[in-house]
Order: sequence, then C-alpha cells, then structure tokens
Amino acid sequence: MIPSNRLRIVLAASEAVPWFKTGGLADVATALARALDADGHDVTMILPDYVSVRNEAADPLPDVTDTGVRFTLDMNGNAIGGSVRRTALQDSKVKVLLVAQDHYFSRPQLYMENGEGYADNCERYCFFSRAVMEICNQMVLRPDILHCNDWQTSLIPALLNTQFADKPGFENTASVVTIHNMAFQGQFWHLDMALTGIEERYFSMHHMAHNGQLNLLKAGIAMADQITTVSPTYAAEICSTEGGCGLDALLRHRESNLTGILNGIDQSVWNPETDRHLDTHYTAASPQPGKASCKEALQKRMELPIRKDVPLFGMVSRISDQKGFDLLAEATDRILSQDLQIVFLGTGDPGYEAELKSIASEYSSRVGLVIGFNDRLAHQIEAGSDAFLMPSRFEPCGLNQMYSLRYGTVPVVRRVGGLTDSVVDVNHETLADQSATGFVFNDYKSSQLAETIERTVATYRQPLVWEQIVRAGMAIDWSWNRSAQRYVEVYRKASESRHKRAKDGRR
Ligand code: ADP
Ligand code: GLC
Repeated sequence: MIPSNRLRIVLAASEAVPWFKTGGLADVATALARALDADGHDVTMILPDYVSVRNEAADPLPDVTDTGVRFTLDMNGNAIGGSVRRTALQDSKVKVLLVAQDHYFSRPQLYMENGEGYADNCERYCFFSRAVMEICNQMVLRPDILHCNDWQTSLIPALLNTQFADKPGFENTASVVTIHNMAFQGQFWHLDMALTGIEERYFSMHHMAHNGQLNLLKAGIAMADQITTVSPTYAAEICSTEGGCGLDALLRHRESNLTGILNGIDQSVWNPETDRHLDTHYTAASPQPGKASCKEALQKRMELPIRKDVPLFGMVSRISDQKGFDLLAEATDRILSQDLQIVFLGTGDPGYEAELKSIASEYSSRVGLVIGFNDRLAHQIEAGSDAFLMPSRFEPCGLNQMYSLRYGTVPVVRRVGGLTDSVVDVNHETLADQSATGFVFNDYKSSQLAETIERTVATYRQPLVWEQIVRAGMAIDWSWNRSAQRYVEVYRKASESRHKRAKDGRR
C-alpha cells in the first residue's frame, strides 16, 4: 500500500542537538525532524543514549522515562542486552527514543578520545543499528521510511533487505540514507561482519565489502532505496574519483537514486534576534548597533584589544584535515601581517591544535583561541565576528557559512561542496546586481586564501559596500521548510520503488 500523505518516519542518527553533538549532523537531524513534524508527518527519532556525555550537556533531557522495552542481540556470540528510554523534543510532537546500553554508550565522548576512534566503534554502531530494527519491531512502529544518516546507521537498509525482509511490520518500509561526509565510511576488518547479524554471503563487493574490508556506508549506499547528500554540488562531487573516496563507481551506478538537498538552518536556535547565548540582539533590518556590541563582547571574551575599526574574523570548526587548517598554518605570517583579528574555537587533531596554540601565543594581540567544544561561544563568534573563515578542502554542506550569513558575518570560503551552493562571491557583477554575499576562492592553496583575506579586509574598509554584502546575506531564507519538502519527495520515491520491488517479488 502506498502511504498516505502523512508519512511515518523513523529518523536514526548517532547525534542530535540539543543533547549530543560533534558537528553538523546533530543540527541537521533535529532540524529536519522538527520541519517534518511541522509539515504534519509522524516522526520518531532514535538515538544512542550517551549517558555520560548527556550529564555534561547544557540541556538535560526533559522527562526521560523507561519504555519497558528490552532486547538482547547476539553480537558475535555475546548476548548483549539493551533497553529503550523515551524523551521529547521541546515544542514539537517528535518522539525521541534512546537506545540505552551503558558499556557501549556511556563514555566520555561520542566516537573518539585524543584523536583515536574507540576500538569497538563497529560493534557499538552495529548494535545501535540493529537496536533500531528491534525497536521498530517490538514497538510496532511500522515506519513508511527508515531515514539513516552516515555510516553509523547505514547498516539499517541492509538489515531491512535481509534479516527483516519478510518480517511482518516492515512490508511498507523503505529506506533512505543521507551521506553527510564521504570521508567517514565505517570501514572495519572483515571479521566484524559477524557483528552485523547479516549472512556472510552479503560480504561481497556488491553489498558490504570494499577492498577486503567491511564498509558500513557502502552497505547503505548499495542497499537503500534512495540516497541523499547534503548539497547538490557535493552530490556531483562524490560521483567523481576525487570526491567519491573509493565509492564513486557505486555512486555513479546509483546516480538516478541520488539527490543533493542543501541543509537549512534551525531558526529557533540560530537567529540573532532571539539567540539565547547573546547579551545583545539585532535584526536584518538594523544590524547595528547590536552587532557592534556583540563584537565588543567577543573581543573582551577572547582577550583581544577592543577596537571597532579592526576586521574580526571568526572560525568555529572541528580541527581536522577537512577544514583547511594546513592552509591557515602555511599562510599565517602573510595573513597576520595585516591589521586584523582572528578568533578560533575548535577541537580535534592534536597536531593542528598545537600549531594553533603556537600561532596564538606568537600573535597574542591578533589571535584569540579556545580549544574545546563550547556551544555558547560558537554563537557568540557567529554574532561578534565581521567575517567567517571556512577554507575547507572539501565540505559536503557546511552550516557555519549559513549561520554566518544569517548573523551578518561575511563568509570567506573555498568554492567546494555546499559552500559553492550557498555563498556568492563579491565581484563587479554580483555587487551590481546585489547578489554578492561573501568571498570565494577556487584552489586549495594558501596563497589564494591569503589573497582572499586581503580582498576581504580591503572591502571591509569600504563601509557602504560592506553593508550591502552584509544585508544581502542576512536577507536569505535558509529555513528548513524548503529542504524538508525535498526530503518528502525523496521519501515518496523510496516508497514507490519499494512497492514496485515488492510487487515484482524482489526485496
Ligand atoms: P561539520 O559537520 O563538518 O563539523 P558543519 O559546518 O556542518 O561542519 O557543522 C559544524 C557544527 O558544529 C556547527 O553548528 C558549529 O557551530 C559546531 N561546532 C563545531 N566545532 C565546534 C566547537 N568547538 N564548539 C562548538 N560548536 C562547534
Ligand atoms: C558533515 C559535513 C558538513 C555538513 C554536515 C551536516 O559533517 O562535514 O559539511 O554540513 O555533515 O550535513
């Protein structure tokens, strides 16, 4: 039966705001769930219950209750029990279920410590993915759509097509996998196949094996009814040898079922008019004097000279190879020879962290640095900076450039992935037609980054032009409604192909 207008959607993710977050996936999972709920769909989010991480979080889970649901999974010969707790997402009807398993999920961090992934990550997320199927089964959720995100939940389409192929309750269930980042595929040694609960024969190059290893993202891409990724440009990039990280041939094979949908932003969280992390608010109609006072507060917080006239660049990022820290390190002297300030907030790769610390101590009157994860400061940097740096090597979508645009903070980005789809470079034409919103460079070269920062500083010195760029960026609507509609279209396609396959007698 083709589902009615109201879809039953189960959204499985390994992180989600406001509770557990390492990057953009957390923002997207919750914002999409909210938008689908607002559109009248029945949405259940299923997340791991990272008990210890949650205890440190600023937002405790409201009213967590035990559902009474218990299950035991055979994890390569070990019987591992789990339970299911329930909570709610404020101001929505979204249901939130938490998979509790203390040994797997009660850890100081989500995926890694000191730059090293947990050794049993395969086991942890195979357990979680299998738990999602158990929950759908035991709680009779009968989803129309199982929406999975990244490698951590990409086993789910494979489970649906194999172990659960003939299970009552899944007759109408189709699967969608969203790729947020091809660089993380969940590749593990072949013996981990025993953790998946799937027959050995699926350890083949057409399903779950890649170069002799188990590849969980590949399982999802090969077996999901539909695949999405988080921007149209990234959808094209991952079908190329350079962007496909080894899976480009498979992605090209599935290209007719692959859609790039640009992320949106959650306006209830990222909005300079109401942001609960700011002492002063401002609007698109009159950014000043509110924005200037956010700048002053940020300079104070980061112990930089308080100056109105100096251009202040911000950067909030996972510190990893993806984000362009090598370019910044290479061009440090050239960039910092100018009269400007830069504030960094991030955590990640210990090598780049050390490099940033040494830059910050050498240029202490120009550079402010906080190593760590700090949601509040991230908002204050978006609001208080004049410009925002994202010189990414690759960027599936990127949320910070959209937050920046919303906050009147001009993005300085490389022309790649979702940055291409969301920032319009400043030049004569785009200034004339008032579409310019930021500064964009093409090649992954430190000289291009340095030149672009120089171009940004020069434009900052022309207040009327700068104001035009700020206003054009602030006027853009990044709300999730539009993107959520695109997801619904993909869900319908997934359901249709599932029903066609069922009619043809294939799963
Ligand atoms: P990615 O998912 O690749 O890390 P995105 O731009 O999509 O990149 O999303 C990053 C999200 O994580 C943004 O909401 C950003 O503000 C947040 N973030 C990244 N690093 C930090 C940090 N150290 N402290 C607080 N927030 C951070
Ligand atoms: C990934 C990507 C980032 C994207 C985010 C949310 O972590 O690196 O570009 O914005 O997922 O989709």
